Amino acid sequence: MRQPRLTRRGLLAGGAASAVGALATYASPRGAAETSAQAPAAPSPLAAAAPVPGGSAREPFHGVHQAGIATPPQSSAVFVGLDLLPGTGREAIVRMMRLLTDDARRLTEGRPALADTEPELAVLPARLTVTFGFGPGLFTAAGVEDLRPASIAPLPGFVIDKLERRWTGADLLLQICADDAVTVAHALRMTVKDARAFARVRWTQRGFRRSPQTQVPGTTQRNLMGQLDGTVNPAPGTPDFDRAVWVGEGPGWLRGGTTLVLRRIRARLDKWDAADRVAKEFVIGRRLDTGAPLTGQAEHDEPDFDRLNALGFPVISEYAHIRRAHVRDPGMRILRRVYNYDEGLTPEGQPDSGLLFASYQADIARQFVPVQRKLAEADLLNEWTTPVGSAVFAIPPGCSPDGWIGETLLG
Ligand code: HEM
Repeated sequence: MRQPRLTRRGLLAGGAASAVGALATYASPRGAAETSAQAPAAPSPLAAAAPVPGGSAREPFHGVHQAGIATPPQSSAVFVGLDLLPGTGREAIVRMMRLLTDDARRLTEGRPALADTEPELAVLPARLTVTFGFGPGLFTAAGVEDLRPASIAPLPGFVIDKLERRWTGADLLLQICADDAVTVAHALRMTVKDARAFARVRWTQRGFRRSPQTQVPGTTQRNLMGQLDGTVNPAPGTPDFDRAVWVGEGPGWLRGGTTLVLRRIRARLDKWDAADRVAKEFVIGRRLDTGAPLTGQAEHDEPDFDRLNALGFPVISEYAHIRRAHVRDPGMRILRRVYNYDEGLTPEGQPDSGLLFASYQADIARQFVPVQRKLAEADLLNEWTTPVGSAVFAIPPGCSPDGWIGETLLG
């Protein structure tokens, strides 16, 4: 593959104008067409053997929305929270976002990043998506505080929270997902390398789900508590999804974007093991085997919240998770795109496991906060789960082949 003569050093050290000009030239639609004709959907000189469909599968990077939200969840994810270095202002942030967009564009297409030190690792995108989010501090640093939606701010405190600083807040989010952990690790390394001149990593949170080799795509995943998790969720491509997830009103720069609340929720699996099956099903209001509501037979049966048992008590408890979390209007639901995490054992010998609870919604104050408040007030699940991290980001809209993520806010 012909390498461009543009170097990372040039982009970082050179004047913004020349670097930006060079990048724009390279990333022109013509350039993109030329390179994708050489890209490894067909065997590439970098690929040792014939490609396997899963490895060469791509998710389109360009579009109205960023990829990685409506995209069927990949099996591996890393969420990285970065803080801008002191003195990093608007011009530097623009330079960083152009660089990072270029990295994401190339890597998601199965092409090495600029000056990629391990280009062989870039050839299997495995449905890689790289999604960017802006935390509250970025708006201040860029001098665009007036364009920050009010809910892009730390969430109100909830009584169940035991937030740890090491998992909370950040100015910039990189969300990297793929069906291959090596692809994720490489994309993480390449993007963080380019971000380093502008920002320092505050936290890295890795998550996983069932691999596409083990389950038919579209099957609801199981979390580490053994539950089918994701049954009631907006379905991509429907009007309800569009209304629930994409920003359609408010600041013009965020139209086509969304917001992300990322909560790190520790689950006490050792305590959960002590509960019997009946108790576990009562806590959620659904069966463990089929995921059916306690009032139904199949996973997608509508729960009957009014049904009473022989003693006159609701079959689905007043405090069951699905009753507390239920939102009647499907266009006001949150999109849950959660990942399991498992970091082995704590120094006390307890499993350090739980969920990276990623919730996307058009409006945090109207959609996420009321549900979280009801769960914090009384949800049987709280006995086993504790939020230990929390961060909030605006997810800008997508971009075209010659654009960059963030241009509607900072361009
Ligand atoms: C470790 C923490 C959590 C676990 C293990 C968990 C697990 C589950 C399970 C098993 C279901 C039922 C199946 C489904 O529809 O997906 C469910 C439903 C749901 N959960 Fe959670 N959840 C957790 C935290 C949260 C949080 C923090 C929120 C929001 C703030 C939330 C919101 C919802 C919603 C909206 C539903 C669908 C309710 C409906 O039936 O309408 N969950 N969750």
